[in-house]
Amino acid sequence: MPDLKLESTVTYAAKVKQYKKIYRDFIDLTLGEPDFKTPQPIIDALNDALKKGYTGYAPAQGYEELRKAIVQLEEKRLGVTVDASQVLVTPGAKAAIFLAFLLATLSRKCRNIVTTDPYYYQYVNLARMFGLQIRLSKLAVTSDGGFKLDVGDFVEKIDEQTCLAIVNTPHNPAALKIRLSEFEEIIDRAKKYNVLVVSDEVYADYVFDGKHISILHVSGWEDVGIYVNSFSKTFAMTGWRLGYLIANSKLVSLLKSLAANIYTSPTSFVQIAAIKAVEIYDDVRRMILTIFHERKNLVEELSRQTLGLKPVRLEGGMFAFITLSREVLDKVDNSNEYADYLLRKAHIALTPGTIFSKAYGKQALRLSLAVHTNVIKEAFRRIEEANRVLLNS
Ligand SMILES: Cc1ncc(COP(=O)(O)O)c(C=O)c1O
Repeated sequence: MPDLKLESTVTYAAKVKQYKKIYRDFIDLTLGEPDFKTPQPIIDALNDALKKGYTGYAPAQGYEELRKAIVQLEEKRLGVTVDASQVLVTPGAKAAIFLAFLLATLSRKCRNIVTTDPYYYQYVNLARMFGLQIRLSKLAVTSDGGFKLDVGDFVEKIDEQTCLAIVNTPHNPAALKIRLSEFEEIIDRAKKYNVLVVSDEVYADYVFDGKHISILHVSGWEDVGIYVNSFSKTFAMTGWRLGYLIANSKLVSLLKSLAANIYTSPTSFVQIAAIKAVEIYDDVRRMILTIFHERKNLVEELSRQTLGLKPVRLEGGMFAFITLSREVLDKVDNSNEYADYLLRKAHIALTPGTIFSKAYGKQALRLSLAVHTNVIKEAFRRIEEANRVLLNS
């Protein structure tokens, strides 16, 4: 049997739930979804779609109207034009990533995949499920506490036994953005060894420094690239389960066949409602930028001021990967023990880094920016207090 005892934020959430029930002042910073509700026009559009009778199966590739709307969305977001035949609508980004793994392993003999460390846990879990070796390229830490892709190391890990390379930008949890030249190097190398490159860009609208750079900006991306995005994070539609991928039409047609035999089609009325989401995209994007930019500034500032934490620098995404100072690490064995200490002592939940990283996991924890600035301030106040007690013990 494959290894199915897999770690994820979902399993950790069960533990947090117990504490939430006990402590009324509890602060949960493990959340991986926006703290605003799905905008009302999208909900209204869903009700309309149901009334209009969109209750049957949909095409496996997704309704053409929605695929055309996604083309417009990406024109606005990235300034890039693709054809609707290059879009495959999926039940969430996770399903798109799963399909890419499945196709990669079915297409040819495959021994390994390449991704970064830290990583989004699904990539590593899928590789383990498919029995593939995982080649992790450790992100470098910059002098101001940010993370950076070591692109030379990343591309060196891709060889004739690799079938898939997967990157995430903006990154969960490391908050870095990939540069155009880095994408170009990855695509070049991937072409040489005929390796699929998945670029998971679900946080594309959560960018703090300059513009979002996408795999779709690289000329010739179509040969090996699969762009993945989702309605989950941009439109606060995590429970609706709607995402998509963009690839060359030949790949899309293969992935569509796999999709049709797994889930038939993404939910019909959800797809129709998502067309409305595209119409209100500009407003939603503006709102996210304003709110999350303030939070990112606050977290950067507080990470510099708080006893027992190292400064952190955030380029994008919904999270900060906070590293504990040497003094704190002398008092606790690892981030799991520290997370437990915070649960008990400060009534705060952070996600232990071991879920996202082999290299940094023991000394870092993930903190969500999807809470109000007042909550962030109170959380750091309590962390400082808890660290003071720890360091004086
Ligand atoms: C990096 C990354 N990719 C994919 C997903 C899953 O997105 P979806 O809800 O569209 O499946 C998440 C969700 O947390 C994520 O953080």
